[in-house]
Amino acid sequence: MRRPIVAGNWKMHGTRDSVAKLIKGLRDLALPSGVEVAVFPPSLYINQVIEGVGKVIAVGAQNSAIEPEQGALTGEIAPSQLADAGCKLVLVGHSERRQIIGESEAVLIRKFAAAQACGLTPVLCIGETLEEREAQKTLEIVGRQLDSIIDALGIEVFANAVIAYEPVWAIGTGLTATPQQAQDVHEAIRKQLAAKNAEVAQNTRLLYGGSVKAANAAELFGMPDIDGGLIGGASLNADEFGAICRAAGN
Ligand code: 13P
Repeated sequence: MRRPIVAGNWKMHGTRDSVAKLIKGLRDLALPSGVEVAVFPPSLYINQVIEGVGKVIAVGAQNSAIEPEQGALTGEIAPSQLADAGCKLVLVGHSERRQIIGESEAVLIRKFAAAQACGLTPVLCIGETLEEREAQKTLEIVGRQLDSIIDALGIEVFANAVIAYEPVWAIGTGLTATPQQAQDVHEAIRKQLAAKNAEVAQNTRLLYGGSVKAANAAELFGMPDIDGGLIGGASLNADEFGAICRAAGN
C-alpha cells in the first residue's frame, strides 16, 4: 500500500508575519494519521517552519543546488545544508523553474542526484503545456521528462523519490485536470516505471498538482494511480490545506 502524500508548495509567497500565521493555522489542524503531509516554504522561512511545525509536518525546499556539498556557488543552497536544517524533501523540475528560469534537463538531473546524495527525497515534477496537450503530445512529453532522469540515473533512484504530475495549463489557472485525465497520465507514468522495475512502479507515489482545492481533492485522490497532491495556492490557507489532507485520508 502506498501511503498518500499531500504537499503544499508555497512558491514565492510569504512574509515573516504571514508565515507565522500559517504555521499557527497548521499547528491547529487535525491531520489524518495515514497521510504524509509536507510543506515547501521559500528557503528564507524553512527554519521558521521547521521550528514551528517540523515535528508533525515534513518540510522541504523548492529548489537546491546542482552540487551536494557547500562550496563556492553564489546564491545557491546545497542539499547538504537543507538536510542539516532538517529538510526532508526537495522539488526538482517544477514547471515554473523549467519554463521561467530555464532549467534544462541536464541541470535537473544534477539537482536530483545531488539531493538524493544528501538523503533528501526529490519530488520530480513533470507535465505538459496546453499546446502540447492540444497536439496530443501529453504522454510523449511527460514520458520524455521521466526518461531523462531514468536514463541518466537509473530506475532504482525512484525507490526514494516522488513524482508529481502537474499539467502546466492547470497550474494556478483554476482549470483542474479531470480525475480521468489525471488518472490516464498517472497510469502511463506507472507503466513506464514498471517496464523497468515492477516493484519500484508499485511503490512510487505519484502526486497530482494543478488547481487542487478541498472541493475537488477527494475525487482526484480516489483514482487508483493518484497517491496524493502537490498543492499551490490552496496550501496558503491552513484550513483549506487541512481539508485537502483529510480528503487524502479517506
Ligand atoms: P496551484 O495549486 O496553485 O494550481 O499550483 C500547483 C503547483 O504548481 C504546485 O506545485
